[in-house]
Amino acid sequence: MKRDDFDEGEGMQTKAVHAGKEVNRTHAVSSPIWLTTAFRADSSERFAGLAKEVRPQEFYTRYGNPTHREAETNIAALEGGEAALLTASGMGSVFVALMCALGQGDHVVAQRNLYSGTATLLSDVAPRFGVECTFVDQTRPEAFAEALRPDTKLIYTETPTNPLMQLTDLRAVADIARARGVKTVVDNTFATPFNQRPLELGIDAVVHSATKYLGGHHDITAGCIVASRKFIEEAWRFSLVAGATMSPFDAWLLLRGLRTLPLRVERQNANALALAQFLERHPKVERVHYPGLESHPQHELARRQMRGFTGMLGVELGGGYETAERFISSLRLATYAASLGGYETLVVHPAAMWGFQLSPEQRERMGVSESLVRISVGLEDERDLMKDFEQALAQS
Ligand SMILES: Cc1ncc(COP(=O)(O)O)c(C=O)c1O
Repeated sequence: MKRDDFDEGEGMQTKAVHAGKEVNRTHAVSSPIWLTTAFRADSSERFAGLAKEVRPQEFYTRYGNPTHREAETNIAALEGGEAALLTASGMGSVFVALMCALGQGDHVVAQRNLYSGTATLLSDVAPRFGVECTFVDQTRPEAFAEALRPDTKLIYTETPTNPLMQLTDLRAVADIARARGVKTVVDNTFATPFNQRPLELGIDAVVHSATKYLGGHHDITAGCIVASRKFIEEAWRFSLVAGATMSPFDAWLLLRGLRTLPLRVERQNANALALAQFLERHPKVERVHYPGLESHPQHELARRQMRGFTGMLGVELGGGYETAERFISSLRLATYAASLGGYETLVVHPAAMWGFQLSPEQRERMGVSESLVRISVGLEDERDLMKDFEQALAQS
């Protein structure tokens, strides 16, 4: 499963521990939180100079802040990008990355299975500003090529998807886009840079809901964009007026999470693979959606494109809605909650969670059955997780 060239040079955990430390000009081993709205200027000339700078670090926190810069430098190193920009949420990053690159009359090609907020942005909000979007089946790279038009400016993808863990062939999409001078943006939230590095595959910009794995502790709402310095400067100009600024306190918590990201994700990958294999063998389970399983229709692509297969999986139980509800309420370690990617195992019942947004037909068209349960596998000991899922299956 390991791609030989995945960690060329310094290892990822070393980068996670050290990247960005140079931003800390104090002698404190743990960087201070720059919890300030503004920075003192010694003169009007100094103020005038700062206000003209691109991304000044010590002017006004909406423009930049050393705590932001340390976390941004760290994330850029992990993703292998030139620069990064933090935003107040994952949706802030999706919004800024898309809208800074688009204008009236532009066309976007996006995959059909997207995080619901992103889908709403592209199908309901962007058209109000003259941006049209065509949605395609992400499992067919040629579908992206077929949907391109002379006015297409951007291709937007997300891989693996929520909650069916379908993949997009990032190298194929990047090649299609580059041949036509079209920009590409990928939501790398589910994979994390430990498992998948889209920029190395030719993608232009990566976005994250850093609320999830990057933060890793279920305690912040955060987003980031990683790309070339030029792209990030455009994104920064846009985010300045969008007001998508993250609190320095949350940026510090994000930085703390980033320092252990590879360790955590490696454990989550291992726990999830073991759990997926266990569930796939269980007589009460109908189907497991996990790219690490040979039964996953895109397993070969997963092996080519990813180092590990993430801590996310979907399981369909024999039975319907009620079976899934019984299963979830019988779990003792796993918590029923909407987020993912943190240290503790969380589960959701998508048919229930999206019941108010989607009709049963829409849900079925997305391939989300009534008995599907999404699992975000945490850092618990593997044997304890297995025991918990085994006893919950026995009761459902
Ligand atoms: C894949 C993905 N992208 C973006 C988002 C939006 O992130 P946030 O909730 O941090 O705004 C989410 C949220 O669940 C997500 O799962």
